[in-house]
Amino acid sequence: MTDRILADTSAPRSTASRQAASHGGSDTDEQWWRRAVIYQIYVRSFADGNGDGIGDLAGVRARLQYLVDLGVDAIWFTPWYQSPLADGGYDVADYRAIDPSFGSLDEAEQLISEARNLGIRTIVDIVPNHVSDQHPWFRAALASAPGSPERARFWFRPGLGEDGNEMPNGWVSNFSGPAWTRTQNPDGTPGEWYLHLFSAQQPDLNWSHPDVRAEHEAVLKFWFDRGVAGVRIDSAALLVKDPALPEVPAEPRPGEHPNTDRDELHEIYRRWRAVADSYPDRRILVGEIWLPDIERFTKYLRPDELHTAFNFDFLARPWDAASLRTSIDSTLAAHAPVGAPATWVLSNHDVTRPVTRYGQEDSSFAFATKRAGTPTNVELGRRRARAAALLCAALPGSLYIYQGEELGLDEVQDLPAHQLQDPMYLRSGGADPGRDGCRVPLPWAGRCSPFGFSPAGATGEPWLRQPDRWAELTVEAQQRDSGSMLSLYRRMLGIRRSHADLRDDHLRWLPSADDVLAFARGERFLCVTNLSNTSIELPAGCSLILASVEVTGGLLPPDATAWLHSESNPTQHRTLQFRTQGGE
Ligand code: GLC
Repeated sequence: MTDRILADTSAPRSTASRQAASHGGSDTDEQWWRRAVIYQIYVRSFADGNGDGIGDLAGVRARLQYLVDLGVDAIWFTPWYQSPLADGGYDVADYRAIDPSFGSLDEAEQLISEARNLGIRTIVDIVPNHVSDQHPWFRAALASAPGSPERARFWFRPGLGEDGNEMPNGWVSNFSGPAWTRTQNPDGTPGEWYLHLFSAQQPDLNWSHPDVRAEHEAVLKFWFDRGVAGVRIDSAALLVKDPALPEVPAEPRPGEHPNTDRDELHEIYRRWRAVADSYPDRRILVGEIWLPDIERFTKYLRPDELHTAFNFDFLARPWDAASLRTSIDSTLAAHAPVGAPATWVLSNHDVTRPVTRYGQEDSSFAFATKRAGTPTNVELGRRRARAAALLCAALPGSLYIYQGEELGLDEVQDLPAHQLQDPMYLRSGGADPGRDGCRVPLPWAGRCSPFGFSPAGATGEPWLRQPDRWAELTVEAQQRDSGSMLSLYRRMLGIRRSHADLRDDHLRWLPSADDVLAFARGERFLCVTNLSNTSIELPAGCSLILASVEVTGGLLPPDATAWLHSESNPTQHRTLQFRTQGGE
């Protein structure tokens, strides 16, 4: 067992060598998405080019080299369209325009092409379940009479009860509170109600209406024509509703929920797939699908539907070997029959940052509401987040990284109340702290806010306050430190890209103690994660490729992952033992 971390293969590579790499961004590799590393950019908080305190496309364009150096294959932009930003852009007023606070369509086109020239593909977010209440369709619907064609594109219904005072049904918004808002007639009297599964500023579209279907296919083409490699489909399992709008049964059987995972959705995605496949270089469809039933989930990934979907089961698991192993096994088993790759996601703009999540006693995921006020051991959380990153990056499939995850940023739990914007916070009357804490602008350089997020001489403060402690976590500080999270991610992604064994689609579990996850990929690559509270003796005949902690004396300490090179051949792997000290 050597203690040495092997050669750092993550040094920035030239564009030509990136494109030649068979792992990811090769122009000729139609299957690039099966193993890709996709970096999520929350535009408002990535980098501010014009100094108003809000991230923008100019900021992203100026930082593309950072993403090249990190080693990603693609970037996914959360919605950048014109929007009143009632839900951070998931309330779209015009799908064909960029919000002026982010830039212009011209800049978006330039960004897509500049990134592509650097070997990075672009994925945009499509929001088909709802529009903004400022979208021309909804404004026209409000201005029109009940029963009018304008209202038919949405879910308008008269209220129940004598005065129509009661909501058409008891559905609850995903952001808490009722899923219905009452309109006002032009004469000021109360009118019909409309459905919104999220905030009142996000009216749900009626997907049985031909205009809604045609418009979204046109929007897909609009962005594909501008060179995007794919789309992430927001709330992909919610679009279709049972037109009778019945109450949600206490325990709906699969396919019988009135607003989630309805069978009619599959036909919509088959049509979208045909649009994506009509482009010679094929574009990809990625679904945001939160479903507890993995078999129902993978139905969306049949060969003529979506290419991949976010696997949220893994991030919802606590830091526990048996639970994580169950998630890995069930994910891979359910994906295999449909031939789709799994995806691995530790965080996104909706969930508590992993450093905070894994630093809390109950490390299973729940929306922030359940975590408010829970004590956090950030040091422990960061150590586990490093281990989790190496674990995920070694699994077969594609990998998502949410901006700031590579810096080990923690959830900001003490933002000033007046800055909080998330409708989850606002609609719950503050009972739910919401998702702003994982959306704080990135720290790039310097010792104090704005930490290089905005240029020198900026007129605006960052839209959410950055904590002073992030001075230690800036890109600039971490670049200088070979032990930093950023250095770990760079090495990790470099090795992931170049290691032939990680191209294999399978993993083989190796014998290990209960609290240890050990598996092999390909001929010689081994990954071992220690979730126990004692060290593991790494077996002889293995050399260290990379570890989330310093490994000394052949011992992998608790809450750590190591990538190893096995000198023995695969048939002998089952004789390798990953035992905890003093354990079995
Ligand atoms: C998705 C997005 C989330 C948004 C919601 C409504 O879950 O990820 O940020 O609030 O959809 O569009």
